[in-house]
Order: sequence, then C-alpha cells, then structure tokens
Amino acid sequence: MDVGNQDPVTGRLTTGHEWNGIEELETPIPIVVFLFLAAAFIFAVICWVLYPTWPLGTVYTKGLLGFDQRHVVTQQVAAAAADRATWTSKVEKMSYADIEADPQLMKLVKETGRTLFQDNCAACHGIEATGGPGFPNLAAKSWLWGGTPEAIEETIRVGINSTNDDTRVSQMMAFGRDGILKPDQILNVIAYVRSLSGAKSTMGDIEAGKQVFADNCVACHGENAKGSHDVGAPDLTDKNWIYGGSEQAVYTTVYSGRQGHMPNWGARLSPLTVKLLTLYVHTLPEASK
Ligand code: HEC
Ligand code: HEC
Repeated sequence: MDVGNQDPVTGRLTTGHEWNGIEELETPIPIVVFLFLAAAFIFAVICWVLYPTWPLGTVYTKGLLGFDQRHVVTQQVAAAAADRATWTSKVEKMSYADIEADPQLMKLVKETGRTLFQDNCAACHGIEATGGPGFPNLAAKSWLWGGTPEAIEETIRVGINSTNDDTRVSQMMAFGRDGILKPDQILNVIAYVRSLSGAKSTMGDIEAGKQVFADNCVACHGENAKGSHDVGAPDLTDKNWIYGGSEQAVYTTVYSGRQGHMPNWGARLSPLTVKLLTLYVHTLPEASK
C-alpha cells in the first residue's frame, strides 16, 4: 500500500488512497463524536452495575438496584386482584340466585363477563352470543343441555364431545349415509320437522313424516319434538336452528348427522371465571347490551 503523502493545500497527511487523482485526507474522528461514544460507553457501564444485565447460564447479574420487571408486574397484578377481591370474593361465596338478585353486583359481573366472553367464546358464539351456522345461539334460551346456572356451568366446565373425561356426549345420527332411512322417508321427515316451526317444504309428505319421526326420532327429540336436555337434542319446534332450517340444511343434518364440539374450560379457566361466564350466559341477552 502507498504510504500517505502530505496534501499540498491543507498541509495534512493523506491516507494514501487515491481515486482518479483525488486523495483522501487523514482526518481524525471529530471530538463531538468521540465524546458521544465515550458517554454512551460510560452510561452502559453504569447500567451493568445498577440493573440486571448479563446472562450467566441459568442466572444473571442482578444489579445493585434489585430491579425486576417480573416483580413489578406481580405487584401490579396483586394490587388489581385486591381491588377486585371486594366483589369477586362475594361472587365466589354467594349462590347464583343471590348474585342475580343483587343489581350492583350483577353490574360488575356483566361487565367482566362480557370481556371474558369476548376473549374466550365470541370466536365461535359471536360477539352478541347469537351464534352462527354450527354454533348455537346462547341468547335464544333454546337450550341443548338446560338453561339453569348449574347446567350452564357444567357445560362450560366439561364441554360437549370434548376431550374432558366427564364431557357431555351427544350425536345426531347419519340416517341417510348409514342407510337407516330411505330417501323418501328422509324427505317426509324433513317436511314434518320443518312444518313444526311453520315452514312449508317443496318435497315430502308431512303426515308420512310424522310417522317416521315417531319411529326414529322421539327417543332423543321427544314425543313433542321439544328436545331433551338428557342427550343434548335440540327443540325442533322453534325457529331457532343451529345448522340452518332450509330444506337443504335440514337434509344435510338428517342425511349426514351432526356432532358439535364445544371445548371444555374447567382446566383452562379458574372456577371464579367459569362462574362469571355462567352468570353472563344465564342473563343473556340483556347481559350483552
Ligand atoms: C371452538 C368453538 C367454541 C368455543 C370457543 C366455545 N364454544 Fe360453546 N359451544 C360450541 C358448540 C359447537 C356448541 C354446541 C355443541 C352441540 O351442537 O352439541 C356449544 C355449546 C355451548 C353451550 C351449550 C348451549 C346449550 O344449548 O345447552 C354453552 C352454555 C356454551 N357453549 C358456552 C360457551 C362459553 C361460555 C364459551 C367460552 C368460555 C364457549 N361456549 C366457547 C362451540 C364453542
Ligand atoms: C341419538 C339421538 C338422536 C336421534 C335418534 C335423532 N337426533 Fe336429531 N339431533 C340429536 C342431537 C344430539 C342433535 C344436536 C347435534 C349437534 O348440535 O351437534 C340433533 C340435531 C338435529 C337437527 C338439527 C337442529 C338444528 O337446530 O339445526 C335436526 C333437524 C334433527 N336433529 C332432526 C332429527 C330427525 C328428523 C331425527 C329422526 C329421523 C333425529 N333428529 C333423530 C340427536 C338425535
């Protein structure tokens, strides 16, 4: 490499690099930049001493101030819980009936319940709990498994066709696919079932369908088709459909069967949270307003 020459104009040394006749001056780092770097270095050293910094395998240098963000968060959470404890401890101790009879307490329950519902349940049941295709409308009070607080709590805790050992189990059989009913029997029973909520079908004979229903469906849906909370079978006489009430939708239900899955929450949510959600669901639809 070329050794630096003296620049004739400034009298400074050059680095010896040359581009098309232009040479680079050997300029030192400006003092301002140097001071800034020095200050940053000193600042870093002070931080090492005062705050947690270096990881050392499974531990770390803790710093002289004993500062710990995890500790700060724990304290904040404890303070927030203590704030809530005044009313949540009441919810934990009181019976469902007593809580619902206390408007002030219910105001807090509904507020918290709404947030909990939106965090955990709205993805399937909808923001207003009105459901959608495949997911029941919880505000309609047309219950599969019963609408008492105790029944709702049980459903939330163990789920439906879930992985919980105590899960509620239900199944609507595939009458067409499994060859239990003939095609015309299916059309007839669909016409009958839809007529119960006032819908007219383009195919099938209602009277014949009534007989098919009596022979095949009453075991679960009941003589009057009002459903059964023992087997989670829905009321077929209201206008409230989980899977849709069109001829096509009811055909798919009866032909291929249905088996909805509701996750179990007993292991994931605390008993208090399940109780708050139960109260929220039980007091729908007002609770969602
Ligand atoms: C992954 C989707 C999903 C999530 C999330 C979910 N559910 Fe469900 N839930 C269902 C389905 C599907 C059913 C109906 C099962 C059936 O058709 O048999 C149901 C049924 C229910 C029932 C029974 C209704 C009745 O008529 O007896 C209740 C109560 C309920 N859910 C409450 C909740 C609550 C509270 C949460 C939030 C903690 C929640 N669900 C979260 C899918 C879900
Ligand atoms: C073994 C019990 C059982 C029998 C028998 C049974 N069902 Fe069901 N049915 C159910 C259950 C449980 C559901 C709810 C399934 C779900 O939500 O996942 C259901 C759901 C339905 C639905 C859907 C309702 C909705 O809201 O979308 C229709 C329609 C229906 N059944 C009609 C029939 C007809 C017609 C028969 C007779 C041919 C019949 N079921 C026989 C248990 C039964």
